[in-house]
Amino acid sequence: MHLNLRRNTLSREGGTQMSISVGMVGLGMFGPAFIQSYQSHPDVHRLALCDLREDRLAKYAKQFEITETYSSLDDICKSDLDALVIITQHWMHAPQAVQAMESGKHVYTAVPAAASLDECEALVRTVERTGMIYMNGETSYFRPETAFCRQKAAEGAFGEFVHCRAEYFHDMSHGLYDVAKNRWGAQWGRDKMGGIPMYYPTHSTCFPISVMKAYATSVSAQGYVYPNDDWFRTDTIHKNPFSNEVGLFTMSNGSTMQICEFRRIGHPGSERVSGIYGTEGSYEQSLAGSVWAGKHGREIVEPSRSHEDLPEALTADLGGHGGSHAYLVHEFVDAVNRQRLPRVNVWEAVRYCAPGFVAHESALRDGELLPIPDWGDAPET
Ligand SMILES: NC(=O)c1ccc[n+]([C@@H]2O[C@H](COP(=O)([O-])OP(=O)(O)OC[C@H]3O[C@@H](n4cnc5c(N)ncnc54)[C@H](O)[C@@H]3O)[C@@H](O)[C@H]2O)c1
Repeated sequence: MHLNLRRNTLSREGGTQMSISVGMVGLGMFGPAFIQSYQSHPDVHRLALCDLREDRLAKYAKQFEITETYSSLDDICKSDLDALVIITQHWMHAPQAVQAMESGKHVYTAVPAAASLDECEALVRTVERTGMIYMNGETSYFRPETAFCRQKAAEGAFGEFVHCRAEYFHDMSHGLYDVAKNRWGAQWGRDKMGGIPMYYPTHSTCFPISVMKAYATSVSAQGYVYPNDDWFRTDTIHKNPFSNEVGLFTMSNGSTMQICEFRRIGHPGSERVSGIYGTEGSYEQSLAGSVWAGKHGREIVEPSRSHEDLPEALTADLGGHGGSHAYLVHEFVDAVNRQRLPRVNVWEAVRYCAPGFVAHESALRDGELLPIPDWGDAPET
């Protein structure tokens, strides 16, 4: 596969060092958490802010003393900024990323990368056609536990992978009603309730897929219906009755993967790999901590938050989600700056979200085994 990069040739090793200009689109509940890191990154010489909401734009422009502002994605796409960081509502990511890449911007979006298999296809084809750099901001990729397991995998300590369990437990009572209502704003109504747990699986799927370097090939899934649920209902735009969905996937390396996306659960919440098992070694994580185990014993481990080099200016505050924020910022800035492929590139990103769309379909069909499409490996250049 050939990438038609405008300024340089995209490679894993990278190209010429320079510094870049960045525009941040989406200043809701999550986007502002990244402003400081972009502002302090030594390879960002210009930072702009953008939101449809004047009040949010004014608030963060003042707080961070940023003078360059735009009132819409359409406007900022006309600017001469190099790259856009898009942290808007999740169903907007793929079309907005396509629009931005087609206007000549390198793009980062928050998760999930897409909201359907068709959007996965559009994203991959847009990256191929435009040659722009695309990165997805999957926080789980840079969690200490994922980095620890990737290192163990690189050392061959797992042997052959056998099975992996990962989960995203987020009970509705932990802020999710407000997030949904806030996102729909004036359009809020009973029909907008609900959601589809498996349409947001990437915090879970990222662990096994990035550690095992394998992708899901088929799935059989089931759903749980919460008694008298007032939120997950079939008479909403999502037409989904399930508050919790669990999928058992076959993987390209012959292993299996179990993913639990639970939104009704008596649990404080977690985005974690609960176990990755190999023929020689295994890793388990629970609320009590992490364990590395072999055939003859086990040890308690504490994966380090400082698992990669970062610019000094970003090390004082790594940010939320296991300290992943600073790594996400650096990965995107460095990828654009060096014109290299980011690790959570478009081919990796669609492997995190596509399995969920198919899993939901399987759950609606009472566990029918369904094949999962794949868009191939990232190009070797
Ligand atoms: N761990 C994680 O990776 C994680 C955690 C939280 C949120 N998220 C993701 O982050 C995204 C944002 O979440 P949020 O809670 O901040 O959402 P939000 O609804 O609070 O904010 C989104 C903002 O985007 C702005 N926006 C939308 N379209 C725009 C356009 N065309 N031009 C300019 N601005 C536009 C809106 O006005 C709004 O202020 C979501 O997709 C969510 O899934 C990821």
